[in-house]
Amino acid sequence: MKNIYLDNAATTPLHPEAFEAMKPFLLEKFGNPSSIHSFGRETRAALDESRDVIAKLLGAHPSEIYLTSSGTEATNFGLKGVSSKLKREGRNHVITSKAEHHATLETCEFLKELGFHVTHLDVDSYGMINPEDVQIAITPETGLISLMLVNNEVGTINPISEIAAIAKENHIIFHTDAVQAFGKIPVNVVELGVDLLSLSAHKIYGPKGIGVLYVRQGIEIEKLMHGGGQERGRRAGTENVAYAVGFAKAAELIVNSRENEMKRLSNLKSSLKIMLEDKFDFLLFNGHPTECLPNILSFSFDSRKFVIDGESLLINLDLAGIAVSSGSACTSGSVKPSHVLLAMGRDEETAKATIRFSFGRTTTFNDIEYVLEVLEGIVKRIGKTIS
Ligand SMILES: Cc1ncc(COP(=O)(O)O)c(C=O)c1O
Repeated sequence: MKNIYLDNAATTPLHPEAFEAMKPFLLEKFGNPSSIHSFGRETRAALDESRDVIAKLLGAHPSEIYLTSSGTEATNFGLKGVSSKLKREGRNHVITSKAEHHATLETCEFLKELGFHVTHLDVDSYGMINPEDVQIAITPETGLISLMLVNNEVGTINPISEIAAIAKENHIIFHTDAVQAFGKIPVNVVELGVDLLSLSAHKIYGPKGIGVLYVRQGIEIEKLMHGGGQERGRRAGTENVAYAVGFAKAAELIVNSRENEMKRLSNLKSSLKIMLEDKFDFLLFNGHPTECLPNILSFSFDSRKFVIDGESLLINLDLAGIAVSSGSACTSGSVKPSHVLLAMGRDEETAKATIRFSFGRTTTFNDIEYVLEVLEGIVKRIGKTIS
């Protein structure tokens, strides 16, 4: 049986070159980077170099890069880290959107417990945030805006530099979740004009369990972890040198091959879209037609025309060796449609009947042809046209 992985937006396999770079730091180069002897100096140098590489790729200064355990931690660190000062200043209003990742949404829920008011902006039918809506939502109390650069479920790219400029004019701290964007589109903190930015290594063929928070110089951020002086005293705990090295290597590789690779994936995406449209006339494509990542293709079966259970579709694809994501999540035993698709205006049944293909560096045209053939068989078997 074939094994085709089309869930690269969920996670990616470690790049062999990243693994090779990490290996010495998992085995022989084990010193604590805080130690002053040669063992420590060796890992300190590797850690510093990794930070430098990541900073350079982002257009940031190394002192603006904080290593974390994940993209989720980076977002928690960023949003919570600036909250106390904002609270003290009476700027207790936060703006985010209905289509954010749970890392942002749940952190904003926590900020509510601290006394913040949170506005969740609507997105349009493509999942895009309108900068005018941001402008309208701003009040004299607004201290923080957090909006994602690329949506993980549908791939839509938001006009972040435009929104960051609005935030700046109003002296509001601006955070963006660039976890899905990095390595796929240019991500430069100066060009984007952001104050805080989150990244995660496992979406770019780096190891799981490491992320980055960029904090612009001049932004006051509170400690996330109390303890030693690591990460300039903001996130104590002995650093994960091997993972930092793997992250830096993976980041370098993906950014350097980005243009060619994204062209290749864009061709795959358009071919698959055409083939899908050809085979099925009851599909609704999710995400912006042009302002969208080339490696994410999300589509729903229109519940007014066709009935199919998204979870069964996913399971049947899995039985055929094809890994994809659906438009729902299993929470406490019940299947809930995706909050992103609902925010885009899809009805519950259509949202549940959604499949997200996310391509990666090993995806080929043959994979796409095979997936289409298998999909057609499953859809015929378990779906039903509404007459
Ligand atoms: C847009 C977005 N933000 C944040 C995260 C969380 O990253 P991590 O898995 O490193 O916590 C993800 C991962 O699914 C994501 O897609």
